[in-house]
Amino acid sequence: MSVINSLKLNFSANKKKVKSSYDTIHLIFYDSKNNLWSKPKWFDDQLTSLFTNKNFIKKIDSLSVFKSGYNSFLIIKDVSCADDDNSLYKTEKLGGKTFALIKNFNFSEINIYLDEDLCLARFIYGMYLNSYNFENYKSTKKTIFKNLNIQSDNFKKISNEFKNYKPLISGIFLTRDLVWKPANILFPKSFVQECQRLSKQGLKITVYNELQLKKLKMDALLAVGQGSRQPSYVVTLEWKGGHAKQKPLAILGKGVCFDSGGLSLKPAKSMEDMKWDMGGAGVTVGLMDAISKSKLNKNVTGIIGLVENMPDGNAQRPGDVVKSFSGQTIEVLNTDAEGRLVLADLLSWSEKKFNPAFMIDLATLTGAMIISLGNVRAGLFTNNKKLAEKIFNSGEKTGDKVWNMPIDDEYNSLLDADIADMKNIGGPGAGSITAACFLKRHVNNTPWAHLDIAGVTWKNKSDPLNPRGASGWGVKLLFDLIKNFDYKI
Ligand code: BES
Ligand code: MN
Ligand code: ZN
Repeated sequence: MSVINSLKLNFSANKKKVKSSYDTIHLIFYDSKNNLWSKPKWFDDQLTSLFTNKNFIKKIDSLSVFKSGYNSFLIIKDVSCADDDNSLYKTEKLGGKTFALIKNFNFSEINIYLDEDLCLARFIYGMYLNSYNFENYKSTKKTIFKNLNIQSDNFKKISNEFKNYKPLISGIFLTRDLVWKPANILFPKSFVQECQRLSKQGLKITVYNELQLKKLKMDALLAVGQGSRQPSYVVTLEWKGGHAKQKPLAILGKGVCFDSGGLSLKPAKSMEDMKWDMGGAGVTVGLMDAISKSKLNKNVTGIIGLVENMPDGNAQRPGDVVKSFSGQTIEVLNTDAEGRLVLADLLSWSEKKFNPAFMIDLATLTGAMIISLGNVRAGLFTNNKKLAEKIFNSGEKTGDKVWNMPIDDEYNSLLDADIADMKNIGGPGAGSITAACFLKRHVNNTPWAHLDIAGVTWKNKSDPLNPRGASGWGVKLLFDLIKNFDYKI
């Protein structure tokens, strides 16, 4: 049974009196080193006497729940509010853990009292990320709206700081929504409509239909979609927050709304998950939402390729040869290696059209990525060391972690083909690397990085900042990278 926990934030000054009921849980921060409690003002000094074995309910790590009469308390021990990335990320995670604990109970009011701000904004951010739940299609929704009441003499400062996180929450939730949605509801055309809704936030949305893509000579991308009843699209989402001469930063996403494998059909078990093969496009769109909502002073262009990979009578056949936008020919030996065909056209077209300062593509590209890095880190492949370093650092800072993978020439040569410039599969081994080498063949001189997010887009197990399912991985990382980007690569 799933429960939506929608948080509604209320800020106010620390009150002298508070109504208490069975509905309410009071969050109390406890600093054990200095024996300091951030207790409500209305509370007498007997606070600690409440926290006895008799009243104890539950403890997880540094979180303990107590109940006495009407009053329920959650004691949060030793939040570190040091002003460094690591401590702040820990605080964010603690917020997530706290919410995970609270949502097991039926409290509708959550009260927090603070004299100082205690990096509370980041804590609340973590609570929000954990509060996400997708039950759009359930007839009976288990929605519980929770009021999160912050009482502090510093509430204006906290609420101001929290404003920085709102666009990120919005972007991450949008990405998660898109990734959760099944392929009969989110297909290329309806995905285009989702993008068009963002134009009211100041994003310039341009849609290319099949006729236009044909004229542009994006035949590799079109070949993937030709076996589907759903027409293919490319969408660009442009944010111009920087000065006119500033080169745009390009983020590209694989948007395979369903990947049946095509004629190289997947077995049923591997096909089950393939509604989220548009994860790269999902991150791109969520990121552009966050960027436009926070009005970043950078020029950023999102580019997504929306197709459905299906096996009808018009589908491409294993062995077909197509010419990509770059002019190179590809022997399509396996129609299930389709993401790289989509991205190849997007990369070389974007490089030519936008002349970006960098291109970063995101794709649920290979199952082999899950074998090598599991669900923890995404694979990073790049032609530029400095860009790699920046991406790595943003990953460590935000928790969207990556690991640098090799793309030596020896791997690249595994793609050489008999009758075309390259084939679309390498092998036998190193599937994620040969896929990245394939992409690299479609980039000229622009600094480029490829993130294979096959393992991190969907989490079968929940974690503190992420209920089970769509993760929204990458929005935080790219937002941080772009926000702090100094064009030195
Ligand atoms: N979308 C899949 C990769 C994938 C698999 C993502 C599982 C997430 C979970 C991709 O299009 C694909 O099918 N790749 C093939 C490549 C192979 C045919 C060379 C794969 O990984 O098996
Ligand atoms: Mn595939
Ligand atoms: Zn795919």
